[in-house]
Amino acid sequence: MTGQSDPQTAFDLGARLSRTPAPATIVIFGASGDLTRRKLMPALYSLALQQLLPPEMAIVGLSQSEWDDDQFREQMRVAVATHGGHDTLDADIWRAFARRLFYLPASFEDPDAYDGLRGRLEHLRRNDAGLGNRLFYLATSPTYFPVIAEHLGAAGLSSDEDDTFARIVIEKPFGRDLSSARILNERVGAVFGERQTYRIDHYLGKETVQNLLVLRFANAIFEPVWNRRYVDHVQITVAEDLGVENRGGYYDQSGALRDIVQNHIFQVLSLVAMEPPARFDSRSVHDEKVKVLRAIPEISAEHAHDVAVRGQYRAGYIGGQPVVGYRSERGVAPDSNAETFVAMRLTVDNWRWAGTPFYLRTGKRLPRRATEVAIQFKPAPHMPFAPTAVETTAPNLLVLRIQPDEGTSLRFSAKVPGPQVDIRNVSMDFQYGSSFLKPSAEAYERLLLDALLGDSTLFARWDEVERGWEIVDGLLAHWDAVPIAALNYAAGSWGPTGADALIRRDGREWRRL
Ligand code: BG6
Repeated sequence: MTGQSDPQTAFDLGARLSRTPAPATIVIFGASGDLTRRKLMPALYSLALQQLLPPEMAIVGLSQSEWDDDQFREQMRVAVATHGGHDTLDADIWRAFARRLFYLPASFEDPDAYDGLRGRLEHLRRNDAGLGNRLFYLATSPTYFPVIAEHLGAAGLSSDEDDTFARIVIEKPFGRDLSSARILNERVGAVFGERQTYRIDHYLGKETVQNLLVLRFANAIFEPVWNRRYVDHVQITVAEDLGVENRGGYYDQSGALRDIVQNHIFQVLSLVAMEPPARFDSRSVHDEKVKVLRAIPEISAEHAHDVAVRGQYRAGYIGGQPVVGYRSERGVAPDSNAETFVAMRLTVDNWRWAGTPFYLRTGKRLPRRATEVAIQFKPAPHMPFAPTAVETTAPNLLVLRIQPDEGTSLRFSAKVPGPQVDIRNVSMDFQYGSSFLKPSAEAYERLLLDALLGDSTLFARWDEVERGWEIVDGLLAHWDAVPIAALNYAAGSWGPTGADALIRRDGREWRRL
């Protein structure tokens, strides 16, 4: 099935990218941090390289580091060269891009910093017509999210005035449980309206995640079988071979349920399970996604054990190299209660999915990095062939590989050539790399551009985030209160044995990746 893309039939989500955003100033809080260096600045440079940013653009970075504009530019040049995936920077483009970078040392709790920012924005506006639009990007520790929003409001920087916009982009985690998320939303919402608020979930910026919608809704053959009558179950896996790297301090307060399940996996799940939206616009898509999440029962503490398993890795081997156990990672408490692995069984209680379980799993220090959605179909209702002929076959399986090795494959049964009927599984495989011959854009490129364009389709709406927390809130409280069975899987294994038991109770198995 590998082949070139067909421009006649392609449902081109990227077509909107041909629109160039209006001139704007992007203000990055946390400009010396990891996210800015690794993701935001490389994405912005890449957009500049593709001429997708307007020339009248400025980027103002704020952080505690005592830099001036030139030092910031040099730091960002190194960041883009290191993390941007380019062999060399284009000297002309970089020079033009760097001229647009400005810096303000600031303590985010200090009101004076926001007066300084306002002054800088006014100066930029006076010197470059059209720079009244502001996109505030909060790439900081979550404790600063409400603080920054409130200060921006007090400094008069938050309102959409005349023809200019003010938008705020908030990184995850959006709260750490239901009540803290609600408080955060109220505090940010008192300053920035929902229309101005862009909650980033970078999984939605991934091409392969967006392709889920295209696969489902631009093809006629999948939708008729995309339901409880034909689908036996769905497995969603987000496996990482990495540990917590240099983020032990954050991760230890978070754990896998908050870090991956409540946001990335729930977003993917809602795209897999949602009804067809009438249009591909923000409201239609969000309305359908939130309906799916509302159909998932909340997990109470008393049922936690039946539907969820957690794990924490001990020392082991990844790619043949020894790695330490979670509790020995930098920034992690020696008696940490944080889970680095979660497996869950959820149901979507509506007409489409009643009785079709969704199994979710995610973990750090698993044998390999692999994110995928597997739709396991029911067996053929009747096999007219001799039992010996079909012994080794398995039901149809559609796998959407989100990363790496992006693509889609469909497993089906075929006759082995020969005089008798012998049946074996084969698969049709579509690979992004060989079909489109160009690498997918980084998720942050797409999301930054959409935020500048005012398109919130690929961001998380508040009711989705809130519903995600409602589903896991009882489980979180239970897990926070009860000590974890520490170090119950070896780094380099597929998680604790409890995860296998969870799915085997239903007579099923996790896919071997
Ligand atoms: C982040 C999590 O949101 O997603 C990290 O905080 C995780 O812990 C990362 O490693 C995974 O993202 P990706 O794009 O590499 O799958």
